[in-house]
Amino acid sequence: MYKKINETSKFINKFINNESIHSAIILGSGMSGFDDNFKPEFSIDYSEIPNFIKPSVEGHSGKLSIIEFGGKLTAVLSGRAHYYEGYDISEIVLPTRVLAHLGIKTLILTNAAGGIAENYLPGDIINIKDHINLTGNNPLIGKNIDELGPRFPDMTNTYDENLRDLAKDTANELFEYKDGVYAWFTGPTYETPSEVKFAKSIGADLVGMSTVPEAIVARHSGIKVSAFSLVTNLAAGISKEPLSHDEVIETANIAKNKLQSFMEQFLIKINLTN
Ligand code: HPA
Repeated sequence: MYKKINETSKFINKFINNESIHSAIILGSGMSGFDDNFKPEFSIDYSEIPNFIKPSVEGHSGKLSIIEFGGKLTAVLSGRAHYYEGYDISEIVLPTRVLAHLGIKTLILTNAAGGIAENYLPGDIINIKDHINLTGNNPLIGKNIDELGPRFPDMTNTYDENLRDLAKDTANELFEYKDGVYAWFTGPTYETPSEVKFAKSIGADLVGMSTVPEAIVARHSGIKVSAFSLVTNLAAGISKEPLSHDEVIETANIAKNKLQSFMEQFLIKINLTN
């Protein structure tokens, strides 16, 4: 794995002349297109990047762009591979490993999720304050690579508290700030109503199929993490309607502009202050 990380990092470094990348954002379902609103220094399709997986899911474009915010470079990854697509979890987190190797200080993750908490509505943007891993998997299982991070990483402040404060200040200028706990299920099935009830009973406010592997790997490498869910639907059983990916994409498209304005402001602040 270390060899692959090196190979991919070298490839990306060639494009940026070894300039440093300060932060990165991995965009989830329906959020691609964010990079088109800015002037990227360059953009590369995942299919051209060694060891990157081209996402197979509609709503994920599969492109890496380098964009300047607040005078520093940010890597914008439009789209991710998911565990339910059948890849080994080490392949899912390879882009995050590469970003760590390139020296980023902060990683922002976004996803589409089902809302459980009573005050959530479809279209809401929720700042993730913690997660519950319900998959039984973990990207750090296996031999620890000591050069990358410790065997037993602490997960107390996974979603960095200072970044949550910064997100709150930024959001308050645009929409009502809400935060919550994200429960990671493997998918690809949506949850059953009983699974949602269970997730709620153990403290989850959101259910989704991504983000946690990347957050774990980023923390393993000491990178600060900030993550956001776009509530595309109320979770199964809370919504009486059957869930569909079309609905997820439709709501994501409606809320896209709000999320993009927020992210632009948030990235500028991160690059200037963190
Ligand atoms: N569950 C899991 N993942 C999701 C959902 C959901 O309800 N909505 C969007 N992604």
